[in-house]
Amino acid sequence: MSSPRLRDHPDLLYTIGDFDALYRFGSAGGSRPIRSHMRRVRETIADVFEDNPEVIDREPAWLPVVNHLGRALDLGSRGDLSTLSDSIRRISGRLTWEHGYEKVPRGLAKKYGYCEIVGPRGPVVTDRIVLGLVLFAPEAVYPQHHHRGIQESYVAIAGEWSENDGAVHAPGSLILNEAGHEHRITTGRQSPCLLAYSWLGPADRLIDPAMRFSPRRRSTRP
Ligand SMILES: [Fe+2]
Repeated sequence: MSSPRLRDHPDLLYTIGDFDALYRFGSAGGSRPIRSHMRRVRETIADVFEDNPEVIDREPAWLPVVNHLGRALDLGSRGDLSTLSDSIRRISGRLTWEHGYEKVPRGLAKKYGYCEIVGPRGPVVTDRIVLGLVLFAPEAVYPQHHHRGIQESYVAIAGEWSENDGAVHAPGSLILNEAGHEHRITTGRQSPCLLAYSWLGPADRLIDPAMRFSPRRRSTRP
């Protein structure tokens, strides 16, 4: 029987605590903006714990990419973020996977999905922050996009990935995308890629993030 508040759902509570640990014990790499983002995420999670928000039973939803979740969690459970990976496994049956965008390129539809764990649509209902997961199949290309008014960070739980062709990021790496920053993600050939993400921004943006891919620029390679 489901209970209405966060503290009545230990598996969700532990998962959020494991998200918090990423932003508490992970390194900011000497970057002041990343350090202040990490602090804001921690403080907002503390507010969520204090609120003890409502937990709603969202209808679980499946997408083709979820076929890769088992492997991603197996890899995650052997890596540095094993505690978070294990706690995600425990809540995996209740996650609502979606595409978010009205139009998803055909090649991406089977290779991408995201789900929210904490956010305006639940299951843990708050408009202070969004905490969720993005899952990519191997060799996915997530086209260029940005988030207006939303500061975003990704922390890789499993798999190798690149943002804007700038570097190869391994599990444990954190990427900060300031509001409006254009970004495009690609994933490696061998493994699925599971990213934990946080969104910070005004409540109206978190409630209606208006997800759209950016118009293709000539400089963007396929
Ligand atoms: Fe993004």
